Amino acid sequence: MNPLAKDLNSVLEGTIISQLLSDYGKRMYFPKGIISQSAEAKEKAKLYNATIGIATEHNDALHIPSVLHGFTNNLAVNDIFPYAPTAGDMGLRKVWLQEMMRKNPTMNGKLTSLPVVTSGLTHAISIAFSLFLDKGDEVIVPDFYWGNYNLIFSEQREAVTITTPLFNEDNGLNIEGFSQAIQDAKGNKVSLILNFPNNPTGYTPTKTEAKELVDMLIKKAESGKKLLIFTDDAYFGLFFEENVCRESLFSLLCDAHENILTVKGDAATKEEMVWGFRVGFLTYNSKGLTNDHYEALVKKTMGAIRGDVSSCSKPAQSILFAAMQSPTYLEEKKAGVEKMRVRYNLLKKSLAAYRGNEYLTPLPFNSGYFMSFTCKGDAEKLRLYLLDKYEVGTISIKNSFLRLAFSSTDLGDIEDLLRIVYQAASEVF
Ligand SMILES: Cc1ncc(COP(=O)(O)O)c(C=O)c1O
Repeated sequence: MNPLAKDLNSVLEGTIISQLLSDYGKRMYFPKGIISQSAEAKEKAKLYNATIGIATEHNDALHIPSVLHGFTNNLAVNDIFPYAPTAGDMGLRKVWLQEMMRKNPTMNGKLTSLPVVTSGLTHAISIAFSLFLDKGDEVIVPDFYWGNYNLIFSEQREAVTITTPLFNEDNGLNIEGFSQAIQDAKGNKVSLILNFPNNPTGYTPTKTEAKELVDMLIKKAESGKKLLIFTDDAYFGLFFEENVCRESLFSLLCDAHENILTVKGDAATKEEMVWGFRVGFLTYNSKGLTNDHYEALVKKTMGAIRGDVSSCSKPAQSILFAAMQSPTYLEEKKAGVEKMRVRYNLLKKSLAAYRGNEYLTPLPFNSGYFMSFTCKGDAEKLRLYLLDKYEVGTISIKNSFLRLAFSSTDLGDIEDLLRIVYQAASEVF
């Protein structure tokens, strides 16, 4: 049991709560990960707060003007107040699929389910794995992963997380590691979650790596492994280098093999810059599945949603759907991505000046919201020092890595942020 759960249980000892808690209730805790480190930064990081997993400018959330317009644009009463259908508003589901195909040309001509609306991507991951993971099942996760997977896989599902190094010795995607992990998995059924652009590293496979990864997965399927591949596309679209694969692995795996079921988890959250709307999607594909098969799986997904949150936010779906019809929508959205790209470019350029630094080594990054350093010493010590001495908020991971969010650092602050982080590292380590 997680020590934090044990602490909470000891506080509750002797009470009616402790006597009534289920096994799940006993295992549950609130992690001291990104959320609690961000909360600390909110208090103390008066200079720069590079913890936040949203995109900000001058402390305000970035947004797509057409979406904001939805709040003042007199939505019809029936677009605001009623329940949304369990699987989400049909118009939005269709537009989301259309957009997915536009952004992922390899999907064209291939049959998938219609996306099902979830209450954000966390919910999508949780729902999908509730359908496919049993207690004790293994799920393969690269060693750099979003911390919330711990609650979803280990605590909620009682699954066993198998980690494999994301990077190989050449700082490229460790396809061999994934291959080995699949080979070593117990039984024929193997589940994997792939998150690119990756949180926390900001890495996306190159086009060549993506192809090699897909080929490797197909070979495993041919050898008889039954693969469930969940693509966590939270940061999809934030690609900043030419050689990066700009399609989701879901798209590249569409109709790849009858033994591969691919589940695309994506969300308006970051793609459409509506973090608090809580609109995510689940889309399924496998070679040979028919519309009847997809509808049956969608019904099961709806059952899981129904028994969980019943249905998702109606106004959020209506506003998003209306905004996505705007003729200027794509241009407006591009402007937000462009801001991230300019910050990324400056960050890359500025990091060059610190090449060979003995305290901090940047991990490979080419996309997304974040970059991370490998630290020579205790990353948590560095994080606390940055907060207390410099009023700068960062995230420490597993005491070894420090994550910076350039999504929440203004362009004009990036060079100074780096200067401070390197200075602090030289003082702490
Ligand atoms: C990798 C990854 N997956 C999923 C999510 C969850 O997104 P949502 O806010 O839509 O639940 C996040 C959010 O930070 C994330 O970083």
